[in-house]
Amino acid sequence: MTEPERAWAELAALAAAPGAAAIRPLFAADPARFARFHREAAGLLLDISKTAISEAVLQALLALARAAGGEAARDAMARGEVVNVTERRAALHMALRGPLPGAGAAAHDEAMAVLARMRAFTEEVQAGRIGGAGGRFTDVLNIGIGGSDLGPAMVARALARPGDPLRAHYLANVDAHAWEAIRPGLNPATTLVLVASKTFTTQETMANARLVRGWMEAALGAEAAAAQFAALSTNLAATAAFGIAEDRVFPFRDWVGGRFSLWSAIGLSLALSLGWDRFAALLEGARAMDAHFLAAPPADNLPILLALTEVWHVNGLGLDRRAVLPYDERLARLPAHLQQLEMESLGKGVTLAGAPVARATGPVVFGEPGTNAQHSFMQLVHQGPRPVPVDFILVARPDHGHAGNHRILLAHGLAQAEALLMGREAAAVEAEMRAAGLPEAEIARLLPHRVFPGDRPSVTILLPRLDARHLGALIALYEHKVAVLGALWGINPFDQWGVELGKVMAGPLLRALEGGHVGAHDSSTAGLMEALLRLQTE
Ligand code: F6P
Repeated sequence: MTEPERAWAELAALAAAPGAAAIRPLFAADPARFARFHREAAGLLLDISKTAISEAVLQALLALARAAGGEAARDAMARGEVVNVTERRAALHMALRGPLPGAGAAAHDEAMAVLARMRAFTEEVQAGRIGGAGGRFTDVLNIGIGGSDLGPAMVARALARPGDPLRAHYLANVDAHAWEAIRPGLNPATTLVLVASKTFTTQETMANARLVRGWMEAALGAEAAAAQFAALSTNLAATAAFGIAEDRVFPFRDWVGGRFSLWSAIGLSLALSLGWDRFAALLEGARAMDAHFLAAPPADNLPILLALTEVWHVNGLGLDRRAVLPYDERLARLPAHLQQLEMESLGKGVTLAGAPVARATGPVVFGEPGTNAQHSFMQLVHQGPRPVPVDFILVARPDHGHAGNHRILLAHGLAQAEALLMGREAAAVEAEMRAAGLPEAEIARLLPHRVFPGDRPSVTILLPRLDARHLGALIALYEHKVAVLGALWGINPFDQWGVELGKVMAGPLLRALEGGHVGAHDSSTAGLMEALLRLQTE
């Protein structure tokens, strides 16, 4: 048996022990459990005490991290080694926000040069020295999808405040209803358009870029419209072919993965809309988390602990779903960003060597802001037959003056986690119904429906405030968690081959829809095509 195999076997043995999923006894046995199972770094507090991770399980998880080379993988990533082996690329997103050793040093210098250009451009736009046909830009429209949309769109939603320098809009879906919803709010003469695409070949983004350019050209003419476009991309030949002037192209390198790219030129919409200082603070927050991730011992390392908690849930207890509940409306798009970050990174079925994985990998991630989530899917989380681990994200201080509402919000967030942990036993439910005067037959009938099993795991992350710095640290926390999980599971978290097949198969289907004929397909696809073509002409 290899060392990692021994570590996995040890973990499996602990998970198979009677009562391994129980959490309440751990609290009962240890009054200092919170103190021993929470850590703070980069301004964030991570509490993993409301999980069934005992001291023995924690030690087994840390042994696994050592044996599986978690720290070695982290250090290789920081040195700029080719950790994305299938695409033969480094994963140097940390170089976008701070200096690194080895190949990372040159990458950082290069990233700083692009940041300097982004800053100069941002300041020129904000001063009104760069403007549109109608004068000073009032709006910035980012056209991109996946990593070229979700990160910036999520951050913009989280940090936008009244009076910000520009309003930011995000157009991702090729469904032109998305564009039709945005269009009425834009003046073509004062809108700056950023075409955000790492490859500059993504069909949805290029179709939307052409659509918006057509709209702007119709209003301003071709030359004036072209002057209001900029590109954020690695593909400089394609940006030139699209007609974007060289000084309006903000490049980045292939060592920035799409879902890790909001810190690169892809974040230009944030710099423009929030102002440079807040964009810089976002990067600083991420950099503080990077410094912690690179230096802290595994037992105190937030990203490593978060990754190990996921391993315990997914591989130890077989819980392959996870809910993310930010108790802050401004983080409404965080679950969507994490879905791409985690599921595109960790939804893999083969190891780095190309062999089938020996165990489960990335869980299904879903979420909604609290308290809204409480009134939708939390029923299943509380009483469904299989537990769903939850990430609760709480913000201590709001940016509004309605302290009463905020206290209600926080009380509900804490209550959900406590209810999942403690549950409600039959005796207590029975006593309550009896005290309310319910007849015995009614008590017997309702009892099974009103019992909460408890011992349902959650982690809680606290932010003092939702400002740029703490949001940067929070996003970087999840990025590094993903990298650690890739190492522990022996998979490549930096490629995404699984998105390719559907893109390829859309080609013939598009041609068939254009030509109005059904080609050779399975009978379901052919039948649906026929029905669509018929319905389009009816
Ligand atoms: O959906 C696949 C994907 O390649 C993502 O990884 C990426 O973020 C997105 O498409 C957009 O790609 P691009 O930035 O090249 O347009």
